[in-house]
Amino acid sequence: MALSLTVNGEQRSLEVEGDTPLLWVIRDELGLKGTKFGCGAGLCGACTVHLDGQPVRSCSTPVELAAGGEVTTIEGLGDRERLHALQEAWIEHGVPQCGYCQSGQIMSAAHLLATNASPSREDIVAAMTGNLCRCGTYSRIVAAVESVAN
Ligand code: FES
Repeated sequence: MALSLTVNGEQRSLEVEGDTPLLWVIRDELGLKGTKFGCGAGLCGACTVHLDGQPVRSCSTPVELAAGGEVTTIEGLGDRERLHALQEAWIEHGVPQCGYCQSGQIMSAAHLLATNASPSREDIVAAMTGNLCRCGTYSRIVAAVESVAN
C-alpha cells in the first residue's frame, strides 16, 4: 500500500505492506538507525518512538497505524542546532553503558517531561518502568531525568 507519514518533521511517502512494523520502516526504509530492535515483542522498550506525541513500541506498531501521523525518533528529538536537554543530560551523567536501549529510554523520558515538567522520583521510576536496561543504568537514568525536570 502507498502511505505517507511525517518523520522528524519531513513528509515521507512509502510503498509498503500495511502490517510492516513501524520499526522496520524507520530503520530499513528511512535509514534512521537510532531506534533499536530489542525483543521484537513490545516488551523491552528499546524501539520506543513517538507517534502523534505518544510513546509507542515501533516493533509492534503496524506502519498503517502511523499513516498520516507524525513520528518522532531519537534523531528528531532535538533541533538541527542542538541536542535535546535530555540528550545533554544523558551525556553529562554518563548514563549509557552498552547504549543499546538508551534511545528508547530517552524517548520515554521525553514523553514524561512533555506531559509532566516536574515529575517526582516516583513519577520518573513509574514512567520508565517499561524500558529495560540489561546493563542496569537505572539510577543514572533517574538522575539524568531529575536534572532536566523543573
Ligand atoms: Fe520493541 Fe522490545 S524491541 S519493545
